[in-house]
Amino acid sequence: MQTTDSSTIEVLPFADEQQDAVLREALAGLCKPAGAQKTLSPWLFYDEAGSALFEEITRLPEYYLTRTERAIFAEHATSLSSSLGSNVTVAELGAGSASKTGVLLREIAANQGGLLYQPIDISPSALDEAAVAMSDLSPGIRVEPQVANYITERYTIVRSAHDRVLALYIGSSIGNFSPNEAQDILRKLHSHLQPGDSLLLGMDLAPGPGKSVETLLAAYDDAAGVTAAFNKNVLVRLNRELDADFDVDAFAHRARWNAQASRIEMHLESQQSQTAHIAGRAITFAHGETIHTENSYKFTEAALHSLLQTTGFRVDRVLHDAARLFAVVLAAVI
Ligand code: AVI
Repeated sequence: MQTTDSSTIEVLPFADEQQDAVLREALAGLCKPAGAQKTLSPWLFYDEAGSALFEEITRLPEYYLTRTERAIFAEHATSLSSSLGSNVTVAELGAGSASKTGVLLREIAANQGGLLYQPIDISPSALDEAAVAMSDLSPGIRVEPQVANYITERYTIVRSAHDRVLALYIGSSIGNFSPNEAQDILRKLHSHLQPGDSLLLGMDLAPGPGKSVETLLAAYDDAAGVTAAFNKNVLVRLNRELDADFDVDAFAHRARWNAQASRIEMHLESQQSQTAHIAGRAITFAHGETIHTENSYKFTEAALHSLLQTTGFRVDRVLHDAARLFAVVLAAVI
């Protein structure tokens, strides 16, 4: 309800827009003919509770991605920084990677006597946190945040005449997009860059000699049930924000390896035949039917090269841990 309180009035339009988007997404994904796969888009995970659960996931013993990527950055910070040279400005898709890229950014700032860091993120609060984390990291780092959805909206990367841009897209975020969407994101990023610029891309790797499917599945179905809570939180969100009536306990978290598509899929599986309601629409579930909530693509070395080549980049270095769980790719703009 609108009130005369000015701070409430300022906040309401965004909240309304957000709620409309949630409603549209929920109806489009769930009101489907019998037998069609129900879906919910993964961006719905990230309300306040979901973002906190994701942070918890990144600290789980089974979720090797975050700590492995951090270790790769720590091990190669010096050589990366010297291969990048000077006059570097860093633009990051997403915000708040200070804990992983901190060593590298500090090193670049020290080498060239300062650094302009430009995080681009849809969430103003994530950008605020990134700004604090970066200035804690080094007083030489100047932060210019930009609120934008880097998938759907235009964004800008600022540079002065002799600057070269280092674009960061880490955390395996690229893996949550279909191959076509991933290409669109990288092509759009490429359109903001020029020869001499580079990209550091964090990519989770497909199973191989040192990485079993079990390792992958455990990362998305941990013993403590944090990923299950993260997945189910999407229904909690629909209940709260749309006044829906999902029986959250009547759905089970499922993580599946889809070898053909090279991706982990997360689903919510209905434990009984049941009906839920959203905005007056009845949504029926058969026993065992699922809502597909997320894909997390895992890359082979060939897939990684092909994605970068087709989007205008040349792979210069592929850095990984000893077991080849995860890769950080340094690519040049061509
Ligand atoms: C954000 N993203 C890279 C995570 C991933 O691994 O795909 C999201 C996640 N889903 C379940 N656990 C973590």
